[in-house]
Amino acid sequence: MFSFKWCHLLIIFHVLVATPMSSLTNSSDQLSTKFLDIAKKPEVFDWMVKIRRKIHENPELGYEEFETSKLIRVELDKLGIPYKHPVAVTGVVGFIGTGSSPFVAIRADMDALPIQERVEWEHKSKVPGKMHACGHDAHVAMLLGAAKILKQHENEIQGTIVLVFQPAEEGGGGAKKIVDSGALKNVTAIFGLHVVPEIPVGEVASRSGPLMAGSGVFEAIISGKGGHAAIPQLSIDPVLVASHVIISLQDLVSREADPLEPQVVTVSKFQGGGAFNVIPDYVTIGGTFRAFSREGLKHLKQRIEQVIIDQAAVQRCNASVNFHDEDKPLYPPTINNGDLHKLFVDVAGNLLGMDKVSADNPPVMAAEDFAFYQVVIPGYFFRLGVEYDSSEPPQSLHTPYLKINEDALPYGAALHASLATTYLIKYQQDVAKVVGEYHDKL
Ligand SMILES: *[C@@H]1O[C@H](CO)[C@@H](O)[C@H](O)[C@H]1NC(C)=O
Ligand SMILES: *[C@@H]1O[C@H](CO)[C@@H](O)[C@H](O)[C@H]1NC(C)=O
Ligand SMILES: *[C@@H]1O[C@H](CO)[C@@H](O)[C@H](O)[C@H]1NC(C)=O
Ligand SMILES: [Zn+2]
Ligand SMILES: [Zn+2]
Repeated sequence: MFSFKWCHLLIIFHVLVATPMSSLTNSSDQLSTKFLDIAKKPEVFDWMVKIRRKIHENPELGYEEFETSKLIRVELDKLGIPYKHPVAVTGVVGFIGTGSSPFVAIRADMDALPIQERVEWEHKSKVPGKMHACGHDAHVAMLLGAAKILKQHENEIQGTIVLVFQPAEEGGGGAKKIVDSGALKNVTAIFGLHVVPEIPVGEVASRSGPLMAGSGVFEAIISGKGGHAAIPQLSIDPVLVASHVIISLQDLVSREADPLEPQVVTVSKFQGGGAFNVIPDYVTIGGTFRAFSREGLKHLKQRIEQVIIDQAAVQRCNASVNFHDEDKPLYPPTINNGDLHKLFVDVAGNLLGMDKVSADNPPVMAAEDFAFYQVVIPGYFFRLGVEYDSSEPPQSLHTPYLKINEDALPYGAALHASLATTYLIKYQQDVAKVVGEYHDKL
């Protein structure tokens, strides 16, 4: 008897590349088309819109998504979908399918941003200073939509689909906490998406390889000696010293990094003093650094610390640098698996038409904590068009004016459902093929 072992995963994964999608039975194609039709029906569409609006009205920041998490669990209960909770504080991990291997995950993030909404509409945020300005409300609604559709087709699922509702994408590293919880232990692939207001509804974009940068934050206190602004010789002015530090930090990208490897260092925070005639004791500066490789990130981190401390010392100041490793972990770069890219292009092309799939979308320096999954599991992240009105300039993510076209919700739900089911079908076929080849060799 051939007994399947996890070490064969690697072989299977390579076979995934070799098996052309055309050799798949029609079942996955037909299933995908069916999923989109179902997602557009009022039973699913109106339900998703209602959920999205409810979450939009009550935005919650990272690790505080208590009501959002509860709403998700109530809906999963109604659908008869079992789940684990709490995972990573407020996270919910649901299961649909056979309950046994193979396992594939689809993920949504739940957190909002500390932004005051400026869009006047019926479902405007009811919480002052908080808004779903990154569209995670839509992400949750679409993953629930996928769950509803998948549950209706549970007997056609050839394995287990793991629904990941994670907390704290916006800087809190919720994905890392999900990984650390062990909830994804059996999972061999994970898919995630992000809404993009600049892309029309019904279109998607992504690429194989690096899609988004890795990032980290830094904060430094530069201490001098305060005093009367008219008698500078008796003080050590940290405002001027911090200014020199900021200038020196610009050398890291312009003079030390390979011009062909994109990197960013931005000082976005500069706080100190308050009076016109007082030199303050200290100044706080802070910002972000980004790169497309983990080595690049590590190098930047080390040099930022060195430059701040040494440059401050040149002018008699002490400096301490904090990278907030505990609450804002270093985000790895988001790097898409090549085999999953092929699967995505086939599934999305079949569902939307090849002309609606941008398969070599340029990378961006924004970061995404989906990357934490990709460190441990092959993963794939793509952009979903949610353009509100093509006659207006789009309002970007993270602005108080963001508007999302809810007509996009069925596309996200159907893509989630199709990617997961197709992955499992293909996985099973490839296992069968590997087992067959193994027997042939005996
Ligand atoms: C797939 O569907 C087409 C028509 O819909 C049919 O001609 C073909 O035989 C089917 N192939 C498989 C493998 O089922
Ligand atoms: C992993 O799979 C095994 C066997 O199917 C199951 O017993 C176990 O609960 C699974 N673990 C997780 C974290 O899903
Ligand atoms: C810097 O630190 C040293 C050692 O703790 C201390 O003696 C000195 O006064 C500090 N200088 C400033 C400007 O804070
Ligand atoms: Zn965001
Ligand atoms: Zn986001």
